[in-house]
Order: sequence, then C-alpha cells, then structure tokens
Amino acid sequence: MLAVLSVLFLYLCSPVCGVFQKLYCTISDSCDCDFKPNIKDLEWDLYKNVYGQHLAQDIVSEEVARFLQNKSPERPLVLSFHGSSGTGKTLVSSMLGNHLYGSAMSSPYVHQFVPTLHFPLPDRVQEYREELKSWVQGNLTECARSVFLFDEMEKMPPGLIDVLEPFLGPSHVVFRTNYRKAIYIFIGTSGEEVIHRKALESRQAGRDREEITAEDFQEAIARTVYNSTASGFFQSSILRQQLITRFVPFLPLSRRHVERCVRSQLCQRGSCGRGDVVEAVAGDMTYAPVQGHYFSTTGCKAVPAKINLFL
Ligand SMILES: Nc1ncnc2c1ncn2[C@@H]1O[C@H](COP(=O)(O)OP(=O)(O)O)[C@@H](O)[C@H]1O
Ligand SMILES: *[C@@H]1O[C@H](CO)[C@@H](O)[C@H](O)[C@H]1NC(C)=O
Ligand SMILES: *[C@@H]1O[C@H](CO)[C@@H](O)[C@H](O)[C@H]1NC(C)=O
Ligand SMILES: [Mg+2]
Repeated sequence: MLAVLSVLFLYLCSPVCGVFQKLYCTISDSCDCDFKPNIKDLEWDLYKNVYGQHLAQDIVSEEVARFLQNKSPERPLVLSFHGSSGTGKTLVSSMLGNHLYGSAMSSPYVHQFVPTLHFPLPDRVQEYREELKSWVQGNLTECARSVFLFDEMEKMPPGLIDVLEPFLGPSHVVFRTNYRKAIYIFIGTSGEEVIHRKALESRQAGRDREEITAEDFQEAIARTVYNSTASGFFQSSILRQQLITRFVPFLPLSRRHVERCVRSQLCQRGSCGRGDVVEAVAGDMTYAPVQGHYFSTTGCKAVPAKINLFL
C-alpha cells in the first residue's frame, strides 16, 4: 500500500513540482533552474579533449569562469566562435552545455538555433525577427540562466541577428527579466581566411603554434565579419556597439592533431592499438596549402567515416 502511494505521489509530483518551479522562476529572478556549473570539469574537458586549440581553451575557460564568479553581471556573456569546418567549434559549445546544466545539452535551458532549420527563407527575415525575439524573451523569462547557441552563422540571413541587440547590451531593460545572466554563443566559419593566414605565417616562420595570441585576431575577425554578407553579422549593430565579449578563433588542424582525433575515436571503439588505422586515416586527409601541406582542409570532420573505411 505504501509503495503504491509513494509511486502515486512521485507520479503526481513531477508535473505539479514543475509548475511550482516555473512559478518560482518567474517571480524570483534568482532562479537557477537546472543550472549546476562545474568550471573545473569544463576546464578539464577542454584541455584534455580538444586538440590544437590553445586560444579557444584559454578564452572559453577564462571568460566563463569570470562571468560565473560575478553574481550580478553587468551584461551577458557573448562569445563568437570562428574557424574552418571540423576544428572543434561545435564540440566546444557542447562542452559548455554539458558542464553548466544538470541535464547537460538536453537541458530545457540550452537553446540551439540552426538557420537552415529555423530561418531557411531569406525573404521572411521580418517574420523571423519577431519569432526569434519572442523566443529569446520567453526563454529568458523561464530561466535567466539560459544558453543560446547559434550555429552556422554564415547561413543566417543578414539583419536577423540584430533583433537580439537589446538583450546583449548593458543598459537596456527587458521587462521582468534579468537578461544579463544569459550566455550567447555564435558559431560560424567566417573569418577562417584571416585565421588561416596567421596560422600559416606562424608556421612558415618556424614559430610555435602556441605563440599565436588571441589579440592577433580580435580586430581582424571583427572587421571581416562586419564586412561579409555571409557571416550573419553583415553591418550588424551588435558589432558597431561592440556587444561581443570575445571572438574565439579556432586554428586549422595539422596532421598530428588529426592523428589524435583518430586515436581517441579508435580507443572509444575499443581498438586502441591500431596504429595502422591512425596512419591510414591521417594519410587519407587533404592538406593545404599545396606548398607545405600544413593543415587538414576538413579538420577532424571526416575521421569517423574514414575509420569505418580502414578498420
Ligand atoms: N580540435 C579538436 N579536438 C578534438 N576533436 C575534434 C577537434 N575538432 C574536431 N574534432 C572532432 O571532429 C568532429 C567535428 O568537429 P566539430 O566540433 O563538429 O567541428 P566544427 O568546427 O565544424 O563545428 C567532432 O566529432 C569532434 O569531436
Ligand atoms: C524557447 O525557445 C525555443 C527554441 O529553442 C522555442 O521553441 C520556445 O517556444 C521558446 N519558449 C518560449 C517560452 O518562448
Ligand atoms: C570594410 O568595408 C569598409 C567599407 O566598405 C572598407 O572601407 C574597409 O576597408 C573594409 N575592411 C575590410 C577589412 O575589408
Ligand atoms: Mg559545427
């Protein structure tokens, strides 16, 4: 009888508790919902499982730690990831979600927007603007500690993202919502040429990859994305007002990084000892430029498919 009652209680409680939690969240403003940040785990994951991206590792762990230490931040944390395909941008963004929320990336407070899915038609920008604004505002009302991920920014119709401007700055007030506790991550390939050029210069000069500094990029990336129609930030007021906390460059990956990607994925499949497959997969990638063959053109993207081919 007791067992039946407790099962019944649990069954009834979950929706009711949900309602109470929502109510509490709406009125309290300090609601932390599912927010269980673990900075140490995030840093560990970043430094152990992301290869060849010292800038992204440093900037992301530094900015997230700084942001979360502040109980009432003056403005939200806004990071913009840039770099070519397969260099770890999506990987790093999911590490963020994984170590900030109890239910990781499936948390109801991690919101992902993909232009080709959510905003496919360029002639409906006006409609999308209204939609995006009400989504973000609604999501922030439910939980101030929300994360918004915008992937494939290069496919975002120009002008759409500017609707977020009031949420990103320090001075605007959005009704009833502490919008300053939110985290925004933009992800795109724009700026990859600038990043590539710097990485190549450094390599050709025989310098260490780790000597490349983040300051080398901030201005250059900002200027490039502002001028590009395929960045999502074309002539964006978000850039004019400097509402992006940091630009995060992802460097092109060398063969030794590709090898590490292959090795780690092999181990996950229980085939740790297959050095022959590591050789074969890394050797099957395309490296650019023609002179030097320094960087994998697809980063680590094609690794799983090629492992299937050679294993
Ligand atoms: N720097 C990296 N370190 C470790 N794994 C990586 C790295 N870059 C890419 N990968 C792996 O390659 C695949 C594609 O990476 P992804 O993060 O989706 O690239 P993108 O930069 O295009 O978003 C993922 O499975 C990821 O684990
Ligand atoms: C929150 O965002 C999602 C998209 O991730 C949207 O579908 C949903 O309607 C939004 N919620 C509110 C309350 O606006
Ligand atoms: C960006 O565009 C402006 C105006 O068209 C131009 O003056 C400037 O040189 C451009 N900058 C870059 C880095 O392309
Ligand atoms: Mg990606």
